[in-house]
Amino acid sequence: MADSNFNSTTTDAGIPVGSDEHSLTVGPGGPILLQDHYLIEQMAQFNRERIPERQPHAKGSGAFGHFEVTQDVSAYTRAALFQPGVATDLVVRFSTVAGERGSPDTWRDPRGFAIKFYTTEGVYDMVGNNTPVFFIKDPLKFQHFIRSQKRRADNNLRDHDMQWDFWTLSPESAHQVTWLMGDRGIPRTWRHMNGYTSHTYMWVNASGERFWVKYHFKTDQGVEFFTQDEADQMASADTDYHTRDLFESIARGDHPSWTLFVQLMPFDEAADYRFNPFDLTKVWPHSDYPLHEVGRMTLDRNPTDHHTEIEQAAFEPNNLVPGIGPSPDRMLLARMFSYSDAHRHRIGANYRQLPVNASKSPVNSYSKDGAMRYEKVSDPVYAPNSKGGPSADTENFRDPGWYSEGEIARSAYVSHREDDDWGQPGTLVRDVLDDAARERLVDNIVGHLLNGVSEPVLFRAFDYWRKVDKSLGDKIEQGVRAKADQPDPKVDEQGNPARTSMQEKA
Ligand code: NDP
Ligand code: HEM
Repeated sequence: MADSNFNSTTTDAGIPVGSDEHSLTVGPGGPILLQDHYLIEQMAQFNRERIPERQPHAKGSGAFGHFEVTQDVSAYTRAALFQPGVATDLVVRFSTVAGERGSPDTWRDPRGFAIKFYTTEGVYDMVGNNTPVFFIKDPLKFQHFIRSQKRRADNNLRDHDMQWDFWTLSPESAHQVTWLMGDRGIPRTWRHMNGYTSHTYMWVNASGERFWVKYHFKTDQGVEFFTQDEADQMASADTDYHTRDLFESIARGDHPSWTLFVQLMPFDEAADYRFNPFDLTKVWPHSDYPLHEVGRMTLDRNPTDHHTEIEQAAFEPNNLVPGIGPSPDRMLLARMFSYSDAHRHRIGANYRQLPVNASKSPVNSYSKDGAMRYEKVSDPVYAPNSKGGPSADTENFRDPGWYSEGEIARSAYVSHREDDDWGQPGTLVRDVLDDAARERLVDNIVGHLLNGVSEPVLFRAFDYWRKVDKSLGDKIEQGVRAKADQPDPKVDEQGNPARTSMQEKA
């Protein structure tokens, strides 16, 4: 049956089936037969449609596109994708962090900004967020942090008390929480937000010179946000608003783009810089390290099968190509283990063979076998060998590194002279936000605190905000006290009437 017009339904084995609608029974009123393997295939396959959702970042979607280099940065990196004139295909996935696969796109949350570049020297993943900083700086706290943002054990509800308990006991969170509670905590669409590596990475040029680097993907559509009220309304009007916006915009030929800029720090300046340049809770002020343009990313093709192209996309910060390396940021170093471990669990040992994850340049690895492998391996299956198998080019592809020594211990980060948890969020509040944005920040925080935060967490929260900025903290306490006596008609993120803990206490 090689007829190209053949369009009959078949089983998964390609065998034409007798009906799309009726099971095989003994007479019209009789029992279903075990031999109806087509019915059984339908039921069994259906039962296995879901794979585990991502632990964090479960809700998201994405698109395909390309990155074009527009400026010459070859003095700083030998990475093939950043050489002059090069264009590289890619897939992007945007996401929220704390919600499940069906949760509203417009909840207040950081957004994932993950890019997989199919370079000529292997797959390069840039797994960033729409924020330049993060809540914590040690990976031992990540699991606890995510649990505090998700659901309680007893009633399975999200709980602001738990969130603020963790944040106020973790002062290093202040910069990211300030950012999150501000306008950029709810982007209007994914097209209207920036993306950042957040972490510092290393770039290495063709002569082996090393630089520290941070990426900033600035939206060419302009930054736009939803107010809390707009986002609450959208959460019920269209749960999937951001997913729909991206898909429809690409479908109508309105292709979003981002310009990539980098901040570059000469390798030796890291030791004496006023902030620890590897601390994920800090930015490098632009006045110290200005932005250099690199190129433009454009998204121009929608997925045709969300599951195979987006849900099974496996981004991993350990996918770094020659010319790009890690930095001493402990969060980044831990992430270099965590993601591929998650993919082996979520998708399976051979996840890298799925088309969306597969390298478009030759793969000469010695991995073999495992469930669902279909790329064939050939002998020799070990190295070193004298049988003509691949051998590592140790001259050209040395692991980028840095000098390190010290006593093995569980210690806090090395502190630089201006490091503290409150300075940079204070600058954001006082120097970057205007009066209207500061007012919205106060309103957003007051609304969040009134939604189930109890003593002593509430009082620690007032103190936390006073440390960011005295006047901000005072206004937040006044706002909570003033509103605590009035019933709040708004609904919370789960669609339930908002609770006011001070009211409950009274
Ligand atoms: P600049 O005045 O040079 O930069 C301030 C940056 O703040 C802007 O470039 C913009 O980043 C970002 N921004 C503007 N509005 C908001 C908002 N509502 N919420 C969050 N960010 C906003 O000053 P500095 O470089 O000295 O940084 C001052 C503070 O700005 C930092 O402490 C940090 O909180 C924040 N910031 C700094 C960034 C950096 O890499 N230096 C990046 C983002 C924020 P963008 O241009 O990326 O849109
Ligand atoms: C997703 C772990 C910090 C950005 C994930 C996933 C895990 C994880 C296990 C799910 C992966 C999957 O199942 O596909 C961690 C750990 C961290 C950390 C252990 C810190 C120690 C960060 C930071 C950022 C970030 C700092 C941003 C700078 C993302 C993004 C995704 C993600 C964007 C979703 C990727 C996608 O779209 O598939 N993280 N994470 N994470 N993380 Fe992290």
